[in-house]
Amino acid sequence: MDERIILALDFQTKDEVVNCLASLENQVRYVKVGLELFYAEGSAIVSLLKEQGLKVFVDLKIHDIPNTAKGSMKSLAKHGADMVNVHVAGGLAMMEAAREGLEQGISAGSTSPLLIGVTMLTSSSQQMMNEQILIPGRLEETVAHYASLASQAGLDGVVASPLEVPIIKQVTRTNFLTVTPGIRTVGSAFGDQTRVTTPVKAFELGTDYIVIGRSITQAEEPAKAWADMMKSIREGK
Ligand code: C5P
Repeated sequence: MDERIILALDFQTKDEVVNCLASLENQVRYVKVGLELFYAEGSAIVSLLKEQGLKVFVDLKIHDIPNTAKGSMKSLAKHGADMVNVHVAGGLAMMEAAREGLEQGISAGSTSPLLIGVTMLTSSSQQMMNEQILIPGRLEETVAHYASLASQAGLDGVVASPLEVPIIKQVTRTNFLTVTPGIRTVGSAFGDQTRVTTPVKAFELGTDYIVIGRSITQAEEPAKAWADMMKSIREGK
């Protein structure tokens, strides 16, 4: 089982989650609970997945004033997640407050979850960034700047597209992690994602964790899609 591959459980019910994991025949080691599932099932879903021995990335993308970010992280820390995240766009003070909240919230003796910053969503394009949210320049430059800000705030890594991993590694400290959605197996639909690549290419670019959802969960045969992906990663093609 490869801990570097995080399966996005974007479902609305616990039953769908249980069925999905059963169909994948316990091949998965790391899963992601996003807003869709967390809002539907609450924190109980995190406990359920942890009880099954899985590692859990709770992807709630906190973006609020520092005091609220700190409080959110303090509450979230109690659920036993292995990875949580905030938007870098919230700024240095917010990221530092989130870290503080996380440290305060974990129970004595347990290790803090990895705290990861979201740079630019992998569904965003440069045109959207320039014309709608009025951030000028190249998207890679914004992502690199956000990554160095997250590094400065003491975060453990960032979420970005795999295409931006090389530049992120250049501007951040050693061991700073990259977590990359925007992953599509060969031939599967992009959907709403724009900055995408394959699992093999993502690892070639130096990513630490890939996040993959619909290419597996919505495949006609999820177990086969997973097995094919693992084979391509092992063979590097
Ligand atoms: O189905 P797909 O592989 O596109 O799923 C990607 C997952 O990663 C989704 O759960 C999405 O919310 C999440 N994500 C993302 N881009 C980010 C941060 C998280 O796609 N920047």
